[in-house]
Amino acid sequence: MADLDDLREGNNFGLGIATTGNRFHVKGAEHLPWGMKDRLSRIFNPKTGRTVMLAFDHGFIMGPTSGLERIDLTIVPLIEYADCLMCTRGILRTMIPPSTNKPICLRSDAGTSILTELNDNVLIDIEDAIRLNVSAMAVMLSIGDAAYEAKTIANLYRAVDRGTRYGIPVMGVTAVGKDMVRDARYFGLASRIAAENGANIVKTYYCDGFEKVVAACPVPVVIAGGKKLPEQEALELCYKAISEGASGVDMGRNVFQSEAPAAMIQAVHAVVHENLKPEMALELFNELKNK
Ligand code: R5P
Repeated sequence: MADLDDLREGNNFGLGIATTGNRFHVKGAEHLPWGMKDRLSRIFNPKTGRTVMLAFDHGFIMGPTSGLERIDLTIVPLIEYADCLMCTRGILRTMIPPSTNKPICLRSDAGTSILTELNDNVLIDIEDAIRLNVSAMAVMLSIGDAAYEAKTIANLYRAVDRGTRYGIPVMGVTAVGKDMVRDARYFGLASRIAAENGANIVKTYYCDGFEKVVAACPVPVVIAGGKKLPEQEALELCYKAISEGASGVDMGRNVFQSEAPAAMIQAVHAVVHENLKPEMALELFNELKNK
């Protein structure tokens, strides 16, 4: 029987005070169910609406590329500074301590390597994503690639169908084929197609006219860092993207190939969450690097 000793009547009903309604902090997610919102809130900080995702899934295409030879030595020490980790299931299971308690954006498709062109595209079994307790699934979209556009759109569609069934958001990753022009028209098209096909987050690249890419995309846009740049340029890139509406970064090489990766991710974090100007962020980077 329940313990009825000292059972107290409620007397604090806030009569006359309207129930607090809270607008959701992630673009386009207002009408999603609770589980989806919970997962998105693990990725996007509810205070800023932004995220610093640390991408280290490159090995699934590139093998042990520079900075990712030993994930345990180079990436694990950075985890504490990231809002979300983007990686493959192979690395997650073997290298990432489950006790880190960071949300995972799981690379959920595969189909190529640096030795070949895209030659197929397969999608993870949703049950494995559930087993890994991921907060999002990342799926590539190859817009403009005559051979693989339809295949990758079909995979995104399937991922969204399955993710929706279990409350797992999907991030559409816009791949850029060699023949594509990396401009706002192309990234705007690819991002919008990703969102229209159900992606809850879009990952794309910064470009001139980026604010139009963001404006026309009904879900949050995060940018990839791309090839390694000098730290100052990478921080400028982040600042411009955030100022023009990006909801964060999903950055890899410009962090883990930096001369001081821990200092770099903290500087990126300050740009993303505190709008720190690039000059100040570079000062912060240098200060942390020399500690
Ligand atoms: C893209 O599909 C890859 O999976 C990487 O996660 C992405 O390119 C981000 O890494 P980076 O900042 O090095 O470009």
